[in-house]
Amino acid sequence: MRPINIGLTEAQRCDVIELLNHDLADTYLLLIKTRKYHWDVVGPQFRTLHELWQEQYEALAVAVDDIAERIRTLGGYPIGTAEGFLRYATLKEHPNDLPAATEMVGRLILDHEHLIRNLRHHVDKCSATLHDEGTADFLIGLMKTHEEMAWMLRSFIDGEAIAGRPQPSNRAVAQPATL
Ligand SMILES: [Fe+2]
Repeated sequence: MRPINIGLTEAQRCDVIELLNHDLADTYLLLIKTRKYHWDVVGPQFRTLHELWQEQYEALAVAVDDIAERIRTLGGYPIGTAEGFLRYATLKEHPNDLPAATEMVGRLILDHEHLIRNLRHHVDKCSATLHDEGTADFLIGLMKTHEEMAWMLRSFIDGEAIAGRPQPSNRAVAQPATL
């Protein structure tokens, strides 16, 4: 096999590959959890959440592929077994329960935030310790994808809270000044 000579030592590349395999496993688990809720959700917001989660698990499938191919780019091999994903993942599954829709949204927010914190730490490690700016840049993009997904889920929860509150009377709503 040809040596890979891109300015990183073999030890640096191995450390980056290891870290990427953890992100791959967590992203795969979050894909599975999002897709399961896409199937299971019931209630008045069924269609909204069913469709939002389809968009999100499709985006997570793209992210999984991108992480695996980044690992191959660095000469490594991505995990490709369910056993390996479970061993490498830091997210927890919730088997055998069927929570209400808002609880599902809340759990996914926590999972995205967990991944965002991991990714922020990995960006720092790749750039400051391992000097792999290419992977740091890649992980920043991935972190922003999770930040956007978490925002959409938070907006859903916030919208539910507003919908349950009594509406202010017209008198209480600030009117724009007339010109
Ligand atoms: Fe579907």
